Parts: sequence; C-alpha cells; structure tokens
Amino acid sequence: MPAAIPLTQSITWVGANDRETELFEGIWPLPRGVSYNSYLIAGEKVALVDTVKHTSFERHLEKIRQTIGDRTVDYLIINHMEPDHSGSVNLLLNVFPELKIVGNKKTADFLSRFYGVRSNVVTVEDRGELDLGTHKLIFNLTPMVHWPETMMTYDSTDKVLFSGDAFGGFGALDGGIFDDEVDLGYFEDEILRYFSNIVAKYAVMVEKAITKISDLEIGIVASTHGPVWRKDPGAIISRYARWSRHEAEEGVTIVYGSMYGNTERMMEAVAQGLAEEEVSRIRIHNVSKTHVSYLIRDAWRFRALLLGSPTYDTRLYPPMDYFVKLIEHKMLKNRILGLFGTYGWSGGGVGTLTEFAKNSSCELVEPVVEAQCAPTAEDLKACRLLGQNIVKRLKASPKTA
Ligand code: FEO
Repeated sequence: MPAAIPLTQSITWVGANDRETELFEGIWPLPRGVSYNSYLIAGEKVALVDTVKHTSFERHLEKIRQTIGDRTVDYLIINHMEPDHSGSVNLLLNVFPELKIVGNKKTADFLSRFYGVRSNVVTVEDRGELDLGTHKLIFNLTPMVHWPETMMTYDSTDKVLFSGDAFGGFGALDGGIFDDEVDLGYFEDEILRYFSNIVAKYAVMVEKAITKISDLEIGIVASTHGPVWRKDPGAIISRYARWSRHEAEEGVTIVYGSMYGNTERMMEAVAQGLAEEEVSRIRIHNVSKTHVSYLIRDAWRFRALLLGSPTYDTRLYPPMDYFVKLIEHKMLKNRILGLFGTYGWSGGGVGTLTEFAKNSSCELVEPVVEAQCAPTAEDLKACRLLGQNIVKRLKASPKTA
C-alpha cells in the first residue's frame, strides 16, 4: 500500500497519484500523470485539507487510516472546489458523517450546487482562524486562483502554507514528494505547463495572492498538485510571481502550420534568420502535431513568439485559429511577435494573425511576410530578415527572467 508521508510531526500527505486520466479538465494531456495532494493535520482535533478526485478516494482513505487509525476527521478544509479536489466530499461524509466542512461563502454555494451538501458547513472570513488545539489555522481568501472560492490555509504552528492550485504543477509524484527528493529539472516543464494552461488567465489574481501572503513566515509550501516545497519554498513562489508578471526567458517559440510544405519552408527561413543572429533557444512546433497545451507553455516561457499559418477556406488555418484563440483567452502579454504565412487565391490567414497582434499587448516586429501559393526567393529572404529582426529586438532590451 502506498504510504502516507509526513511533512512535519503532525502534518501528513495523504494525497494520491493519478496515472490513468488522459486529459486534465478533458483538455490538457497528462503523459506524466498528476497528483492530487491532500494533507491531514492531526492536532487535538483532526483536519483534512482538501480531498482528491473521486476515482482516487480509496487510496486517499487508506492513507488517512494509516495516519489516524480509528480517530475521526473533525474538519475538512476546502481551499478549492474544483472536483479534482472536492470530488470525494460525499464519499468522505459517508465515512465521517460528523465532519464539519470549512470554507468561505462561495465554497458553501458550490458545495450545495455540486454535491447537495448544505449542513455542517462552517463559513470563514478572510484571515479567520480555526483552533485545532495544537494547531492554529488562518484562512487567506485568494479569489480566482483559480475559482472564485479559492483560499490558502496557513498553519501558523508548523509554518505550512496549503496553497491550493497556486504553486502547483502537472506530473505524478514519482517516489518522493518533496522538492529536495524529486528531480526538479524533470518537473520544471510540467509546472510551467500547469501554470500556463490552468492558472495563467488569473495571473493578476495570482500576483495579488502572492502579495497577500508576503507577511507569512512560510516554511513549507504544500500545493494541491506536484512537489511539496520544504527546502526552498521561495523558489516556487518567485517562479509563479515571475510568470504572473508575464516575464519570460530569452528565446523564441515558433508555432507554424503547413498543409503542403510552403509555410513550413518559410518557417525554416525564419528559423535560419534567428540562428544567424545567434539565438540558440528556439522551440519549433507544428501546430497540427503538438498538443496546444505545450504550445501555450512555450509561448509563456520565451519572450518572442513567431506564428506562421496558411489560409484555409479564406480564414486562418483551424489548428492555428484554436491556438491563437487560447492564447488570447489565457491573456498572454508582453511578447515580441512575428508573423508569416501563405494564401492561395484570397488572403485570410496572415490577415487574421495581424488582427490578433493589433488587439494584443504584444509588439509586432516587421516584416510581416505573406506569400501567395509558394514562397519566392524574395519571400524567403524576407522571412530570414524577420528572424534577424526578432533577435535584434530581443537584444535591444534586457531579458526579464
Ligand atoms: Fe486542481 Fe483548479 O483544480
């Protein structure tokens, strides 16, 4: 039986790894799985912080029993109501019928609407407290990180911040759960992918939440997904802070689509132009082959983004259209942008990309290159120039992360 893992003398990880679910929220691939982190605080009273997706409940309950034996769970603290964390509420109530559920007013509304739970609900205000005897909990309301009811619970006794989705990442916990015992290099991509796919739309609220918790002495960051940060909790907080400010690393993401290789030839010329100006961190994605989840991640990672697309039925190529709509939806900001593409008899692809650029807060670098049918030598030269100009623009201002 997989074990419960102590964070402190009286706080234990009782979460579960999910290596079965293919798509998180039915959208985002989970090739490395995901963890649903839940924590048990065993004071004079026992509190559970969040639960797990209902499919993982048995493993969750095994760990609770391992930790507290026949004692009851007195409180369930709900930091976040999305069903990957709240999905076991009714199952838990079957086992612990006297359980009091602690959340804020919005939590109570979701509890009623999702699960029909209306009794034994304790609502707390911002900076409200709950005394478990040996442990004191302080509730910090941090709305829209990532739903309206989200809050972070701080254990002032052991200095543990239970942060909900904030500071989380994709990836099942392979063996150890702590930042000092897992391969952080391996997790890094998955943490950024989680941030950019799930939380980034609420970047402003993440920034506000980080400001709000800045007066807390935090020894451990215990998120609902991914590693628990005990060696360097500041590392994950500062990563999230940078990403929320839309700060990015030096480098270029190229996302292109191509039906018959003509836009692809333009992409190769653009990439050559980039390399000629000595940028080595270049990530090239075929929009039809790579899941949009990874495209969003790399758009968030690097300062420059190049989009290349054919025209399809007088409009933007549908896979590119989906990607562009998602980065609009996720409200990506402050990127250096380059555009290129093709059309057959009527424009539409590059025109739509240009509209996107105008309506975004990104800086468009010239030339925008549009070729009819197949790129000419002049078109390819212009593509190389676009690549070179992107790098010149990158070098003209210092990197931000
Ligand atoms: Fe991990 Fe917003 O739920």
